[in-house]
Amino acid sequence: MEESVSVDDVAPFDPLSLADHHAAERRLAEVRGSCPVSQPHPRMHFVAAHEDVQRILLDTTTFSARSNFRLDPVNGAEGIRPSGSLPTLDPPDHADLRRRLREWFAPRTLRRLEPRVRELAAAAVRELPVGVDVDLVPTSKRLAVRVVYTLIGAPQEDWGQLQAWSDVLHEILPAPLQGRPEYAAMMNRLGEVLEEYRTGLRAADDTVVSGLAAAAEAGELAPADALTHIWQLIQAGTETTISLITNLVYALLSQPRRWKLLLDQPELIGAAIEESLRRDAPLQYVMRTPHHTTEVSGCPVEYDEQVVVGLQSANWDEAVWGPDALEFDIERDHPAGHVAFGKGPHACLGAPLARIEAQAFIRELLGCRPEVRLATGYVHELADELMVRRPAKLLVHIPG
Ligand code: HEM
Repeated sequence: MEESVSVDDVAPFDPLSLADHHAAERRLAEVRGSCPVSQPHPRMHFVAAHEDVQRILLDTTTFSARSNFRLDPVNGAEGIRPSGSLPTLDPPDHADLRRRLREWFAPRTLRRLEPRVRELAAAAVRELPVGVDVDLVPTSKRLAVRVVYTLIGAPQEDWGQLQAWSDVLHEILPAPLQGRPEYAAMMNRLGEVLEEYRTGLRAADDTVVSGLAAAAEAGELAPADALTHIWQLIQAGTETTISLITNLVYALLSQPRRWKLLLDQPELIGAAIEESLRRDAPLQYVMRTPHHTTEVSGCPVEYDEQVVVGLQSANWDEAVWGPDALEFDIERDHPAGHVAFGKGPHACLGAPLARIEAQAFIRELLGCRPEVRLATGYVHELADELMVRRPAKLLVHIPG
């Protein structure tokens, strides 16, 4: 077992301070070096080192996901039950549901979806105005949202309204959404669409809503549960992908030699995407709670306490990536693999789709707008968000 350093030696890292992303870069380096498992609140631990992060994510026997995406410094995981959505379930329920949802992320399904994603990416790039500064955050949001709604099968005429509701709900997270009128309205509308598929008013197709409606009709799934899964996909697939695209574009344009490297060698786009995921993890952390009292690197963790698993911190671990771990280096070797998509049984189902979206957008931008650059005077500031890391705005300019 590794020797742990007492929390008395260094101030514990509080994930509630993560919204101050730049300060967190320094603080996380400090805690990884001296106190990789800290206890910022009586019922909350923060895990910073890559090795511990991986071990926890892989160990579903010891660690439950039931408190995932809920951050409660006072009560920890006490009283939190799985919400029924995939990221909060434990075995065996988790494996059963994941098997059902995996169908929409299988290579053959994504091959069918990919041309549509490329069309949507091409449209997003074509819509960029020339000769004025434009913010790429709303542009990448439009793309991410359209792709998710295409995947799940939300009717196109509803996209605007669904997005308006989900924008409000995103602001509330990680607090519970139940009881919010926007949540009720969203579930109500998605429920109507599900019902239309279930009763045959809409012809069956290969979308998620259609597939889950068939499962509901066959009595394999309660319609309310189907709605939970659809909402979870919308949530999981939008803000994260916006972050990936905008972090990546910023990294490439902030140093023109990187953009030039991809213009010359577009086969490096995949490597640039992986490096962006590592350097700027869209999702900063996930949560676990032990089924029974245990320890992480010698630090005791009690039943019902919350463990905040630092994905971003793990991706910056100098022990894995060396002293230049904070550098964005397209040609970096990725010896252990980043954990931006998690690891193990809960690893991101949508990872291949997110990669397809980012590939399509960057390829389109390189091909059609190679002269794009950051807007003059643009100052890169990260959004004031706790869980998601992305620029607040990303102002670029395409010369007219
Ligand atoms: C760059 C974009 C994305 C990032 C960084 C990301 C990140 C993650 C992470 C870290 C997890 C693991 C959660 C855990 O271990 O507790 C996860 C799970 C998940 N993601 Fe993503 N995600 C992205 C895009 C997507 C997309 C596009 C979709 C679908 C439309 C999606 C669907 C899911 C689902 C369903 C899970 C739950 C898997 C499970 O619990 O078995 N994600 N994602």
